[in-house]
Amino acid sequence: MEDYTGSKFKKARQSSSMGLIIRQKEPTNLETPFEQIDSFLTPTEMFYIRSHFPTPKLDLTSYRLRIDGAVRSPFSLSYKELRDMPSETRVATLECAGNGRVFLIPQVEGAQWELGAVGNAEWTGVPLGALLERAGMEEDACEIVLEGADQGTPNIEPKPPGQIAYARSLSRDKALRQEVLIAYQMNGRNLPRDHGYPVRAIVPGHYGMASVKWLTRIHAVREPFQGYWQTSDYGYWDYLDAKPVRRALGEMKLKSEITRPTIYETLEPNQVHTISGAAWAGETEVIEVAVSTDGGQTWVAAEFLDPVQRHAWRRWNFDWLTPKKPGQYTLLARAKDAKGGVQPDKHDQNYGTYVINHPLPIEVFVK
Ligand code: MTE
Repeated sequence: MEDYTGSKFKKARQSSSMGLIIRQKEPTNLETPFEQIDSFLTPTEMFYIRSHFPTPKLDLTSYRLRIDGAVRSPFSLSYKELRDMPSETRVATLECAGNGRVFLIPQVEGAQWELGAVGNAEWTGVPLGALLERAGMEEDACEIVLEGADQGTPNIEPKPPGQIAYARSLSRDKALRQEVLIAYQMNGRNLPRDHGYPVRAIVPGHYGMASVKWLTRIHAVREPFQGYWQTSDYGYWDYLDAKPVRRALGEMKLKSEITRPTIYETLEPNQVHTISGAAWAGETEVIEVAVSTDGGQTWVAAEFLDPVQRHAWRRWNFDWLTPKKPGQYTLLARAKDAKGGVQPDKHDQNYGTYVINHPLPIEVFVK
């Protein structure tokens, strides 16, 4: 298979020995050591892995992707046929909806992600819309279900009676947007097995659970899909006419995280110390990040390292002249978006153990 040697990926390759943090050995759930992030594109080897079931082994020669359901001409195509179609390359940030869960007090169930269940990569593939167009999606198809080859019995109640495949749906509108890719490359190379080899969906602007890995079926449906990963898991409480209703998580919420310094790091007094981080949003742009070094009493704007680019994170820096007075200081970062949104002060309980997008405190010592 081709080996991309373009200079923009060199940095990614040089950093390949950083390693990941184990959250669960099997199925594979590994976290990026977030303090190591120092490039716009997260090196593939450092990109977090979030899998619900054991990684399936798919063989390229027998691989087929099926497009069926509420379409006029269902069809399936081989890996080669997919690769021969016109492709697009886009940068997108993926964040697991449970990223930052370890910050919730009291502690909650689920993988104890710290800050590194998020990454920013360049993805290459065929727009999902092109496949749906070829299949002739019916007018009354309201959602597209993306199904992976991985299977198992999930563990959050209510559980389905037997084994199921990982599956998630997208609204018709989002599925037809140009940015949604049926991807086969990550950072200029074929997808690694843990990231969905040979083919996965990439749904920019949505939490990671929407980007179905090991994709084998694209199924148009005429009524909203109420599968396990939109109801039992990855659901939240919304309000309709003041009454709580259950909905599926989708768009990523505005968020900023501090990469460096790390929690309980000791800094020299009266020295300029650069606080670094990254900020991202769903279907809008991050336009400002402010940093507080006094637990949220005062805020000062940080400087961006990356330009505005829809669906991609922006790294930022803030030069802090550390206090002369020794002590413990709480660092926070808070983003604003182009729609006027600001990160909330605290976690919204309606999201349960997901969407942890309030400013996450990093306590440091000056001495
Ligand atoms: N797709 C399948 N088939 N099975 C999975 O378990 N996990 C989802 C999504 N796609 C998952 C999947 C979740 S919860 C996330 S956050 C992203 O994949 C993580 O993608 P990554 O492992 O490439 O970082």
